[in-house]
Amino acid sequence: MLDAEVRELMQPFVLSDYQVQEVYSRFCLEVARGLKRSTHPQANVKCFPTYVQDLPTGDEMGKYLALDLGGTNFRVLLVSLKGHHDATVDSQIYAVPKDLMVGPGVDLFDHIAGCLAKFVEKHDMKTAYLPLGFTFSFPCVQLGLKEGILVRWTKGFDCAGVEGEDVGRMLHEAIQRRGDADIAVVAILNDTTGTLMSCAHRNADCRVGVIVGTGCNACYVEDVENVDLLRADFKKTKRSVIVNAEWGAFGEGGQLDFVRTEYDREVDEKSLNRSEQLFEKMTAGMYLGNLVRLVLLRALERKLIFKQSSRRPEFASVLQRNEEVFETRYISEIEDDSFPEFASTRKIVKNLFGLEKASVEDCQTLRYICECVAKRAATLVAIGVSGLVNRTSNRRVIVGMDGSVYRYHPEFDAYMRQTLQKLVKADKEWDIMLSEDGSGRGAALVAAVASKTK
Ligand code: GLC
Repeated sequence: MLDAEVRELMQPFVLSDYQVQEVYSRFCLEVARGLKRSTHPQANVKCFPTYVQDLPTGDEMGKYLALDLGGTNFRVLLVSLKGHHDATVDSQIYAVPKDLMVGPGVDLFDHIAGCLAKFVEKHDMKTAYLPLGFTFSFPCVQLGLKEGILVRWTKGFDCAGVEGEDVGRMLHEAIQRRGDADIAVVAILNDTTGTLMSCAHRNADCRVGVIVGTGCNACYVEDVENVDLLRADFKKTKRSVIVNAEWGAFGEGGQLDFVRTEYDREVDEKSLNRSEQLFEKMTAGMYLGNLVRLVLLRALERKLIFKQSSRRPEFASVLQRNEEVFETRYISEIEDDSFPEFASTRKIVKNLFGLEKASVEDCQTLRYICECVAKRAATLVAIGVSGLVNRTSNRRVIVGMDGSVYRYHPEFDAYMRQTLQKLVKADKEWDIMLSEDGSGRGAALVAAVASKTK
């Protein structure tokens, strides 16, 4: 049985029906403000047009390179589109050293170009002409398919000399500086766009793409008439365009203050991008473990967990060591654990604190804390998804999803569905589908569609 005091501790994380409705209304309003030219400068949910207008048919063919930058790893991929909704992907993961994440931008792009050259050499394609789709998962103002001006860094990146610059050009220049491969940057896209495209490749009803990974964001298909920000000379010959919501920034105008907790405020205050990305800080993998860590510290202080142990102060100092000690993946592992064995939970507790065989009660308390933090994240994500699904003109809407939190958390999908059921309009038919390598296959598809359009 859970202690009443533990429930009380977690109460701020439990969103009431009223709060869910209110966040939903505020979110929808922000999307509308982001789309309109007159309100766009003040809006937090920027709704950037991506210039991706054609969804894949499944018949796309050819070999494409893809780059994926924006999560914990950086990847280079070779994607072979084979028609018949089929594709194969060969990829290599490279680390982005911490100093490159916050060093000069040119160094970052030189590192990327270097990895690219090694990859091409390994695949014996040094002399081949290769079109490349660049999945660059940060907020960008796109001027066309292959020009993306970085608005600001998110997720722990902060390289000098890139904000305000065209990242397509910076990558192109880094490739040219080496001069050892024939690679053309033909498209820049957000990971959410890649997710939407890769799901649409399989299922023609996909209209929304969502990432809940290191960061959290979504894109969706909007009617061109509603997108004021398309370039003036852009010919509106097609009915719709993918819009990158950049919903991670929702709340920067105070819209979420009525649901943010003291823990959310602390996460924000200690972050690299203070007062920014407030919705992201309540929903994304980069922050969820840290939220649990802060709640655990409070639980220790109030003697709500590890009550029997005299080592509580020592446990607290372990948690105070750094913001990353309680990893977000522990949340998934703990919620996946079985009662009453709690094998994974006990292992995590042992590794963190050196405590042999935590009691069943302690494991249950820890699990409840994780559950409340994850459930709130899933509810918030579903509020955003509902807003976008309700905006689309299709009756049947598939939501393409990806990201480590969504993928590995055992209940995230179920939590999301509970909220979607409440908020999506009754006349819509919806479902969620897991994306297969949106950042790779999706990038190749955007590159392929771009070449076709030309
Ligand atoms: C951050 C980025 C956004 C990206 C998301 C998921 O929110 O700003 O562009 O889509 O993370 O990676």
